[in-house]
Amino acid sequence: MNAALEHALQDWYPVAMVGELAPGECKHSKLLGVDITVLANHAGNATESTPTITVRADGAPVDVQQAFDHWWVCLGNKPRSLFTIEEASEADRRFVPCGVVRVACSPLRAVENFLDIAHFPFVHTGVLGAEPHTEVYKYDVKVDESVDEVIATNIKFYQPQAAKSAEGGIQTEYIYRVPAPMAAVLYKTCPLKPDALDVIALFVQPLDEQTCDVWPWMALYDDTSTQAELIQFQQLIFLQDRSILENQLPKKLPLDPGQEIPTKADYTSVAYRRWLKKRGAYYGALEVHP
Ligand SMILES: [Fe+2]
Repeated sequence: MNAALEHALQDWYPVAMVGELAPGECKHSKLLGVDITVLANHAGNATESTPTITVRADGAPVDVQQAFDHWWVCLGNKPRSLFTIEEASEADRRFVPCGVVRVACSPLRAVENFLDIAHFPFVHTGVLGAEPHTEVYKYDVKVDESVDEVIATNIKFYQPQAAKSAEGGIQTEYIYRVPAPMAAVLYKTCPLKPDALDVIALFVQPLDEQTCDVWPWMALYDDTSTQAELIQFQQLIFLQDRSILENQLPKKLPLDPGQEIPTKADYTSVAYRRWLKKRGAYYGALEVHP
């Protein structure tokens, strides 16, 4: 087995939303190139409305856990801990699993694109950005060694419609966390609650090195929009990203400096690539030259 796959096997990945499958229902999928089946079990007692699931990889049952409204699977024999998101236990938030979007791109490219602020005015015109507000102001990026995560803070950006709940343009503040190679968590100004931050996460299921299923999840303050409206808003944004992602070349993410020229706004991307390389997280990455 190659080292990139061996490394990736020890992380947890989402394979279904909680409640997505009816009891007895089964779906077939892929994870890290391995065929998996996801089966919703019949509830243990009649009052239990959400079935638990069983996942088999190449026919054998594998470890499953529930977090952030999704079922997570690890195929490795030395699993790392699944990262935490504190806001997931704040009961007054709206939790919005947004479904799944399949993208023909490297799972690492899906995460990197989520971290890229500079594309907002051009790809999400009129929603997450607008010309002439294209400047990305200097912000801070580091690896938090205590938890081994990339963290970008102090990001400020003008957004015409920062969220479904926003009325008119606002100066939005962002914090990004990359807690695992194939997950990213964004904290941004909540239009309805200035002292709180909305949480938008991207959980990526690597089907293989060049195809992924992306599961966006949100933990928001919004007491007016319907669940369907919130999902539609997020899906609209992600579908705008999909065509960009599917056309990026090379298909795998280059980790070596110089393989792709970073621009001024790409501080987070540079830190992410360095962090992947240092960890040996090469699944979905171009061959790395030591
Ligand atoms: Fe985007």
